[in-house]
Amino acid sequence: MPRIRETVSEGRTDTTLRAAYRVCRRTTRTQYPETYALIRLLPPVLHPACWAVWAAVNALDDLVDDRDAAAAERTARAESWIAALEADLASGTSTDPIRHALVDTAAQWHVDLSALRDGMLVMRDDVQRSFDDWAQWRVWSRGHVVPTFDLLRSLLGRAGVPVVVRLDRQASYERFLDGTRLVESLTDLAADLDDGHRLLLPREILEQFPGAWDDLRQRRWSTATAALVAELTGIARRWVAQPGLTDGMHPGIAIAVDAAADLLLAQLDAVEAAGSALLHSEARPSRATRARIFVPARIRSALAWSLTPVTVPPTRRRPTATEPRSTARPAPGTTTFNPPPRHPSGCRPPQIAPEAMPTHVAIVMDGNGRWAEQRGLSRSEGHRAGVAALHEMVHGALEISLPHLTVYGFSTENWRRDTEEVEGIMSTLRKALDDDPFRDLYVHLRWSGRPEKLPTDLVESLRHKETTTRTRTGLTCTLCFNYGGRDEITRAATALARAVKAGDLDPDFIGEDDFARHLALADLPDVDLLWRTGGERRTSNFLPWHATYAELHFTSDYWPDVDRRDLWRAVIEYSHRHRRHGSTRPAPTSTTDQ
Ligand code: IPE
Ligand code: IPE
Ligand code: MG
Repeated sequence: MPRIRETVSEGRTDTTLRAAYRVCRRTTRTQYPETYALIRLLPPVLHPACWAVWAAVNALDDLVDDRDAAAAERTARAESWIAALEADLASGTSTDPIRHALVDTAAQWHVDLSALRDGMLVMRDDVQRSFDDWAQWRVWSRGHVVPTFDLLRSLLGRAGVPVVVRLDRQASYERFLDGTRLVESLTDLAADLDDGHRLLLPREILEQFPGAWDDLRQRRWSTATAALVAELTGIARRWVAQPGLTDGMHPGIAIAVDAAADLLLAQLDAVEAAGSALLHSEARPSRATRARIFVPARIRSALAWSLTPVTVPPTRRRPTATEPRSTARPAPGTTTFNPPPRHPSGCRPPQIAPEAMPTHVAIVMDGNGRWAEQRGLSRSEGHRAGVAALHEMVHGALEISLPHLTVYGFSTENWRRDTEEVEGIMSTLRKALDDDPFRDLYVHLRWSGRPEKLPTDLVESLRHKETTTRTRTGLTCTLCFNYGGRDEITRAATALARAVKAGDLDPDFIGEDDFARHLALADLPDVDLLWRTGGERRTSNFLPWHATYAELHFTSDYWPDVDRRDLWRAVIEYSHRHRRHGSTRPAPTSTTDQ
């Protein structure tokens, strides 16, 4: 994950960063007012990120479109811009304001820019591109448009409002994106003609209108050109108007998508109304038309977002002790989070290919007692020391964007220990919860286990934390406390028996899914990697249902001695394992779906 270079003083970093986002905002507002208006329909907390993405994509587009430079020169400039972005991502900052804002957006929202970079590589090669037919055009168009839209979707997902495209609407969604590209080609026809070779349309359609291409190049508004433009406008209209596209989407997102469709249709109206003027200037909808689309959309959108709690990712650093916390009040329904503090060594998280990443890592945090005994301390001291190691794991998990971390803190069998030790463990947990170390982190803390026998205040505290952090979609950290795997299975069996007794389930048709649905944490995904510290090679009644296909990893260090680097090592080792799940072929990716 990119980080701000340490040599940059924090105060200066903040100022430069704010200035960088201002540049992105200004660029978007002045050069792409329609896009700016569309971005305003998204949750306010995402606006800076959207300006950064839009400004970056268009900065590159401008390099590719620069008519004052020769084709090879443009490609080379685009190439070096992309290379600079790579370097900036690695260093976590940039001297270029637009890249600086984009790098910050990626880090702050934990979004991966590799698809966007691939889209940029497609743009880089636009200089001398041509297409024989619509199929080739479509491949190019999707390579161009989809990464930007997917990045916007990731940002919305990170904010807790995923853009749901129903499976049966996927083709409509792609057609809609094709429509956005075709509308842009029509709107920018004059500019592309100025560029001589960049009429990005398939030869197939040009050939259907003999003479149209020559007439276009000479800026002649002939019957053939008018017919070609009419045909293209008709195709774009069909692609943009996709009934049912927003079915199942969050109302706020549906409003933005509908406004985008209205805007595209208004652009096509402007293309049709322009006639021969299309060959000399851009066809844009009037201010009045834009107001007709955006004013009501903004009112409805403000209402929709005011009813939706939106999560805000960590800011990139904690305020220093001498620096006052920001007094800016977060928008209603939002909370701000900090990034995890760095490991004292300054080490950076490993880069692991997304498909090789586990979804769910579970840890048996073992060895506290022996760690303490080795030092002549009480076992309770060992448990206290273990808390810091748990913080480390959460920080390390956030840094590699791990979705689920589940830790074993106290088993249903641990009541067999001396009262003094058990009480020590309870008070360690009480203090850890009171200290609230994940308060500013993007972490949903959950609890799995039985309330019976636990002190009531602990149960209340665990439940309270679970509720108050439930919208944090960064890392789900599940604490198994007073947890037993057999107990979990027994309780699921009881729940199933009840369902059968109530006539809701036919015992002859109980499948694994039915069983999983009756587990206390029915949505906990399968464990991909199960790690136990402390040298023992057993699972001790931990997650028997979820870990049946987990990769096992045992290390000998006692729990208080490990830190996030051990987690990263475990994940790296996991990424080299071949998982087959009973098949004879390795599964290409983690088979665990959330
Ligand atoms: C794990 O450490 C924590 C709990 C079981 C609560 P241990 O207390 O089991 O430590 P060892 O295994 O005895 O060293
Ligand atoms: C498992 O460790 C439970 C936790 C880590 C909370 P134990 O130390 O209790 O397990 P055994 O007794 O060695 O199997
Ligand atoms: Mg133990």
